[in-house]
Amino acid sequence: MFVALERLINLQDGYRRTFRVAGRELLLLVVEQQPLLLENRCPHQGAPLHNATLSGRVLRCARHGVEFDLHSGQPLNARCPALSRFDLAYDGDRIGIDV
Ligand code: FES
Repeated sequence: MFVALERLINLQDGYRRTFRVAGRELLLLVVEQQPLLLENRCPHQGAPLHNATLSGRVLRCARHGVEFDLHSGQPLNARCPALSRFDLAYDGDRIGIDV
């Protein structure tokens, strides 16, 4: 089932918004014109990521400063699991997720 999150026209660099879908907190953001959908939870110790700092394609969690490469999802400066990412789905002028 497709769950719409946002209208495509609203997706621009700097976009960042959280959604709750099927009991999960998701973070939709646009980086270098590319929409990305992550779990809004740092794999290091569970802090929310919606206030993380973004520098190019590197996302830095505000809690302990672990940095993640948004390309691979892998941590760059600590040992912890990779970011949880979700595939985006499209329907007409909406972007969303298949659940
Ligand atoms: S919880 Fe994100 S860096 Fe520790």
